[in-house]
Amino acid sequence: MPFHYLIFIIHLSQLLKKVIFAFSLLIITYFMAIDSIIALEGVSVYQRDNLILSDVSLNIHKSEFVYLVGKTGTGKSSLMKTLYADLPLKEGKAEVAGFSIPDLKHKEIPFLRRKIGIVFQDFQLLNDRSVNDNLIFVMKATGWKDEDAMRHRMNEVLDKVGLITKGFKMPHQLSGGEQQRVSIARSLINDPALLLADEPTGNLDPETSDGIMQLLFDISRSGRAVFMATHNYALLRKYPSRIIKCENGKLVEVGEGLIGIGEE
Ligand SMILES: Nc1ncnc2c1ncn2[C@@H]1O[C@H](COP(=O)(O)OP(=O)(O)OP(=O)(O)O)[C@@H](O)[C@H]1O
Ligand SMILES: [Mg+2]
Repeated sequence: MPFHYLIFIIHLSQLLKKVIFAFSLLIITYFMAIDSIIALEGVSVYQRDNLILSDVSLNIHKSEFVYLVGKTGTGKSSLMKTLYADLPLKEGKAEVAGFSIPDLKHKEIPFLRRKIGIVFQDFQLLNDRSVNDNLIFVMKATGWKDEDAMRHRMNEVLDKVGLITKGFKMPHQLSGGEQQRVSIARSLINDPALLLADEPTGNLDPETSDGIMQLLFDISRSGRAVFMATHNYALLRKYPSRIIKCENGKLVEVGEGLIGIGEE
């Protein structure tokens, strides 16, 4: 074989390697992008005219469980509210559960909220009606019509949170932990891609909090993303996962350990 022909083949094989490498990168990036449930880039979080967090970049994928920590008043709830379009987004790019937040029109907000389950510290159940009626209320408000389908879904989500026998009870007849389970059941009704939980264990004792954490981890393993704001470092120790912190007006990635948040 002539020498220049051999050189040509070597060059060609090197070029081929580079093309294959670039192509694989493209495929990986593509799959990461379609797997991404929260994708923020250069986002600013405001409360009225006050800048709370600036230059926020964050990616959260399917099945991920991510903690959001930070001292009181550093912007955890404000960031969550920006994600579910309760606070306007003035700067940056934000894709949440397939919706582009800056382009979202006011009338499209309910469609975004259907893709997001939201769980609060104080449960926010309707106290004038039973657990079942709390769930049916949300279904009707989000466009469900078929009574049988509603009953079926209601039982499915109550079963998931271990409350199948308590649907007839009024919220005040339940313990705090049970009420939080109802609020998690409510958040799951429309099969959301993302669960935002703002201090979900804030009002619960350690043992009850454990049960809620196990439930939230189960939910993330079933293909959803869970993003949970918390002050409870004991839970972070017991259920380690990725941690993000609000600090000095920025969002910083801490990793999985508590060293980065100055606790150990
Ligand atoms: N409705 C509001 N109007 C104006 N400013 C607000 C409002 N809600 C919160 N803020 C301000 O925004 C900043 C961030 O508050 P945020 O509630 O996001 O903090 P946080 O990290 O969730 O605190 P915590 O741990 O106490 O829940 C604080 O300075 C707070 O005073
Ligand atoms: Mg808060």
